[in-house]
Amino acid sequence: MKTLRIGLIGTGFMGRTHSNGYNRIQNFFPNLEYKPKLQAVCSRNEEKVKAFAEQWGYASYETDWKALIARDDIDAVDICTPNDTHAEIAIAAAKAGKMILCEKPLSRTLAEGEEMVKAIEAAGVKNTVWYNYRRLPAVTLAKQIIDSGKLGRIFHYRANFLQDWTISPDVPQGGAGTWRLDVEAAGSGVTGDLLAHCIDTAMWLNGGIKDVSAMTETFVKERTHAATGAKQKVGIDDACLFHCHFDNGSLGLFESTRYARGHKALYTFEINGEHASLRWDLHDLNYLEMFDHSDDSIVRGWKSILVTDGDQPYMDKWWVPGLSIGYEHSFVHQVADFLLSLEKNQPCSPTFKEALETQKVCEAVIDSANNKQWKNTGVNWPC
Ligand SMILES: NC(=O)c1ccc[n+]([C@@H]2O[C@H](COP(=O)([O-])OP(=O)(O)OC[C@H]3O[C@@H](n4cnc5c(N)ncnc54)[C@H](O)[C@@H]3O)[C@@H](O)[C@H]2O)c1
Repeated sequence: MKTLRIGLIGTGFMGRTHSNGYNRIQNFFPNLEYKPKLQAVCSRNEEKVKAFAEQWGYASYETDWKALIARDDIDAVDICTPNDTHAEIAIAAAKAGKMILCEKPLSRTLAEGEEMVKAIEAAGVKNTVWYNYRRLPAVTLAKQIIDSGKLGRIFHYRANFLQDWTISPDVPQGGAGTWRLDVEAAGSGVTGDLLAHCIDTAMWLNGGIKDVSAMTETFVKERTHAATGAKQKVGIDDACLFHCHFDNGSLGLFESTRYARGHKALYTFEINGEHASLRWDLHDLNYLEMFDHSDDSIVRGWKSILVTDGDQPYMDKWWVPGLSIGYEHSFVHQVADFLLSLEKNQPCSPTFKEALETQKVCEAVIDSANNKQWKNTGVNWPC
């Protein structure tokens, strides 16, 4: 058995999901060669990071990420901090020879992402980006069905990611909890935060996105900045819609907003092929829906596949057939796949390089919206 000593930076939402992921491995993936050890956690507030370390079982803590990276008892750095810190931390971690697990989006901009990819390639360190939705069993099953050719020629791919938490103009921008509304911290709005997930899944399932035509809107133009207390112009996209061509000739349609009253995290996708279609909804994440035109016509229709059997992706590790798993399991699966990739000395997809392709689409989307023009993405998929 080999130990992978984790140094995790950021103790918010993702800090918790990842810590839970590492803690579950021993029990549910006992046959992996590598075991994670929660060696150190880092956040700037000493009282809070100490409490987090105790709650989740970290052996030690730091209040400066540079100190964490400088330690020689850390093998892998896990970046769970806001987007404006990803590049600096990842580049420093690569130079220190650490493996890196970085939260999405890879970076705020394509240029930043390119520097990150250069750094990990120069250092030759193992890396992955937490596009975790790929690792929900129903989504992984969709990939297997599409790759089997069952859908035939693909005509359409559409995805939504809808929320409603920023409708009030009283929500501030910047600071803890609302850094996503500050363009300096986030890089973009729903494009990098939500559509990046949809784009990653879409290219994984349906191949590269060739060109895009997009529109964005910022509904609330000014918000109080948490740091300055002053009303400042809002620089993020509150909503984004784009359509696109995939390399395989199919058409894509994507929509994301934080202004869809009633929707908290409605991530859905649907793919329509010549012989069959698939659709999935995060709110009902254990189900994959399928329409198969080769079914006998008198019983032909959409069917709901409950993805909980032991021969379906990841499910042999959990309970008995018929019993569901949840959102948090996607992170457990990503940890397991990262550990397995070390065992097999293979890349753990999506790597930084693959996540850079998603950045190319995000950048083209924003550029297209700003300039009211179709934009080529320059995506090179698979990469
Ligand atoms: N994979 C997913 O589904 C998913 C979901 C949510 C967020 N994310 C991504 O995860 C990252 C973090 O998001 P979150 O929702 O956990 O944010 P959050 O605001 O809940 O937590 C961020 C944490 O980072 C810490 N932090 C900020 N700057 C720091 C610094 N310089 N040094 C040390 N710690 C610092 C904060 O104190 C906080 O603990 C973002 O890049 C976000 O896009 C991914």
